[in-house]
Amino acid sequence: MASLFGPLPRTVRLLDAGAGAGALTSALIGRLCESNAGVRSVEASLYELDPLIQPLLWETMRACQRRCAKAGIQFTFTIQDVDFIQEISGQVAGDLFGTKPPAFDAAIVNPPYRKIGTDSPERRSLRRAGIETSNLYAGFIALIQRLLMPGGQLVGITPRSFCNGPYFRSFREDFLANLELRRIHVFDSRGAAFRDDSVLQENIIFHAVKGRKQPGELIISSSSGEPGGIVAEKRVPFAEVVHPQDAEKFIHIPSGTDHDSAKAAMHGLHTSLASLGLTVSTGPVVDFRLRAAIRWQPEEGTVPLLYPCHFNGGTVHWPKPDARKPNAILNNETTRPWLVKSGIYLLTKRFTSKEERRRLVACLFDPKHLDAPLLGLENHLNYFHENGHGLERNLAVGLFAFLNSTIVDQYFRRFSGHTQVNATDLRKLVYPDRKTLEAMGKELKELDQPQAKLDELVEKYIHAPQ
Ligand SMILES: C[S@@+](CC[C@H](N)C(=O)[O-])C[C@H]1O[C@@H](n2cnc3c(N)ncnc32)[C@H](O)[C@@H]1O
Repeated sequence: MASLFGPLPRTVRLLDAGAGAGALTSALIGRLCESNAGVRSVEASLYELDPLIQPLLWETMRACQRRCAKAGIQFTFTIQDVDFIQEISGQVAGDLFGTKPPAFDAAIVNPPYRKIGTDSPERRSLRRAGIETSNLYAGFIALIQRLLMPGGQLVGITPRSFCNGPYFRSFREDFLANLELRRIHVFDSRGAAFRDDSVLQENIIFHAVKGRKQPGELIISSSSGEPGGIVAEKRVPFAEVVHPQDAEKFIHIPSGTDHDSAKAAMHGLHTSLASLGLTVSTGPVVDFRLRAAIRWQPEEGTVPLLYPCHFNGGTVHWPKPDARKPNAILNNETTRPWLVKSGIYLLTKRFTSKEERRRLVACLFDPKHLDAPLLGLENHLNYFHENGHGLERNLAVGLFAFLNSTIVDQYFRRFSGHTQVNATDLRKLVYPDRKTLEAMGKELKELDQPQAKLDELVEKYIHAPQ
């Protein structure tokens, strides 16, 4: 993180908010002392609330002072044992008469991560400063941005969650309107960087500069997350990271090594769908051709008609009375050739929106929850079956985990720029063998899992060759 800073002024006013034992400041000081890059003095402000860690922070700062003295750099520091959110929100809002917020040339931060409820003291403080966000880390970053001088630099490590999703929309808008993104670093494996703390979430490191003009290109880099791991980097047009037309301002991170490791993992697989004894077909019901037989709600003589809108948390939720799609189809001589026998099926969406997290979205249909002899499967979905019959449950759940994994998603993204996944694409895909799929299926008890959990399971069974 310390290595990401660009040239700094002769006198650096440095902020480390949520400083812990001071590891980040210490790393930056180490580099400044080694590089002899023209910095003559550093004024560090460290905010740390935890009294138990403060003695260590003092110790680290004294060590920084000794190191700087040897390198001919003047180092001064203040340790603020106050709540950064409350203190700085008050100053930014102008609540504290006569106390202006401090200004910084550089900030290096690993802020605390915690959800903050709508009515929490943190949320109220932030709101006074004009910041609306649901996680503490985003509150820290939004405040730090306000303390930076024009051209001031921020290097932070945070969860990746702010890059998409509706909850972080206003944070993203604020961030991208005031900070120019210069670099994003991602870790290939969730968890590796923080294994000791058993944190299982995706983290990113970013380098941004206070200013209003996003660069034409930025650097995307990645590494395994293990200490000393190789860092792969590439330049990517900014417009590929934040699409100019995207009102949500999602931050897409196309990291090459993700794709490469997905490719390597897939190369280790050799089983075709046909050799699993399975087939994938497109849902046979084309609704406008069978218009006369389609019913909005189930009634006497109908069977369920499933659309992608019935996918919910990995399973089928049916009926959906207020959906924009119908729920039922008559079971009669005209429609019967287009209906399938009920059974356990794995369904996938044929089309996903660009903003959807994954290209391939798979969902399990289990008749245990829906008693009907036949089913209508609409044409916007594909379904996996065994000679027109349902699948054995463990096999279907194993396929569910595999197809919803990041490995498969990355694999699809490598060769397909569009958001459509056809039955042919699924037929061409290589799969784990039946035993592996069944073992994965047996292990996955709950289908509605966070992505990281699902990936952890799949990666346990599918390894990239070393
Ligand atoms: C994720 S840790 C990072 C520690 C250190 N920067 C590092 O990277 O090793 C976040 C730190 O922020 C501190 N912290 C949490 N809430 C805070 C607040 N409201 N104001 C100041 N510090 C806070 C915690 O005590 C913790 O030491």
